[in-house]
Amino acid sequence: MVIRTFNDLTPFQKRRAQLKNLAEGSAFILFSGKESHLTRFRVQSSFVYLTGFEEPEACAVFRPGSDPEYTLFVRDKDPSIEIWDGYRYGPKEAQKVFSCDQCFSIKDLEKELPQLLTGVKDLYFSLGEDSINDDLVIKARNKAQQLDRRSGNPKISIKDPNEIIGEMRVIKDESEVNWIKESCELSAKAHNHVMKNVKVGMNEVQAQAHLLYSFYEQEAQREGYSSIIASGVNATILHYRANNKPMLNEELLLIDAGAEKNYYTADITRTYPVNGTFTKPQKEVYLSVLNVQKSLISLIQPGYSLPELQEKAIQLLTEQMIELGLLSGKVSDLIKEKKYQKYYPHGIGHYLGLDVHDIGRSKENNKPRPFQKNMVITVEPGIYIPHDDQEAPKELRGIGVRIEDDILIGSSSPVNMTATAYKEVDELEATIKG
Ligand code: GLY
Ligand code: MN
Ligand code: MN
Repeated sequence: MVIRTFNDLTPFQKRRAQLKNLAEGSAFILFSGKESHLTRFRVQSSFVYLTGFEEPEACAVFRPGSDPEYTLFVRDKDPSIEIWDGYRYGPKEAQKVFSCDQCFSIKDLEKELPQLLTGVKDLYFSLGEDSINDDLVIKARNKAQQLDRRSGNPKISIKDPNEIIGEMRVIKDESEVNWIKESCELSAKAHNHVMKNVKVGMNEVQAQAHLLYSFYEQEAQREGYSSIIASGVNATILHYRANNKPMLNEELLLIDAGAEKNYYTADITRTYPVNGTFTKPQKEVYLSVLNVQKSLISLIQPGYSLPELQEKAIQLLTEQMIELGLLSGKVSDLIKEKKYQKYYPHGIGHYLGLDVHDIGRSKENNKPRPFQKNMVITVEPGIYIPHDDQEAPKELRGIGVRIEDDILIGSSSPVNMTATAYKEVDELEATIKG
């Protein structure tokens, strides 16, 4: 028996119909990806976005507005392999269930592809991800061009599919909004679960065990990215992933983690004291970041943009760095000289969706791209004070704080989809102490 993630395939049909308005007369080739023995297979994001099909070694060819419009290539049925690895649809069943115009064995891809590319002007295919697929597609394109030359068609240029699919993925449709909300609520609950269970002396990986228990207990598919479980000075390492240090008394714990469900991931960071009480300097840094984060979230609405949000974050965080005694001088000079970068070296956020750093342009013609309803972004300010920073007040050295929430751009006001993960000082302290 096969359990599909998506039983209702209408959202996928609608997305394919949208391709017609955006790229009629072109062709898209998307591969689902290959299985590896090290990690559980996850189908490529744009492939699942347009097909809802979850098997490895599949290829979809879309020709918006042409006939056949949607051709799928899948693995053949093979009982001797299925007894080891599980059910495969095979071409006949896949065609019925996934409503493609035609479905072939993946073994026929090389043979069928040139014909599918004739008469096409632009071919959207992501070169450079897999050299075998690159060769196969280029050969098919060249063959199609030979066939075309006789009918006088121009060359087929290969373009980045993200130009079109990335643009679609930036604005979430109704089902995506619901799926992301589900991942966000699930992940927020898991963060709260860790807070309830964290103890001095526990190893970071044991805190991760509580996180994963909660993810899977709530039927998550997987971690949306490598969870960062960083205690003490490890919190000043932006993408710390060793997760193997015992957590000591009076240390902060920074957890940056999100679960994936229905292929959509959340991306949440919370920072709190392992023993349940912020020290005075920890609390000062924490409240600085928290207040900045809240101010930034309140600014989010259609028309505003990620680059503007980053500019505002730099201004507010620089002001806080002066308050904390990390920097001194005029805010405008400190910004001009990029002094804030020592303590805030990253961006304020990114698009979120099928990938944690989701695709889509944040600038248009070199200008900030305005937010639109149903975009989803993260807001993740932080202050990180290196442990050996001789210029920082001694009591602040080694403190790292980041707070990250996932925001849906609403018609006018922002919707914080991860608001149920505790972040107020008293909530955190009460939850940790139990
Ligand atoms: N978890 C990666 C990020 O926050 O961007
Ligand atoms: Mn993020
Ligand atoms: Mn994150």
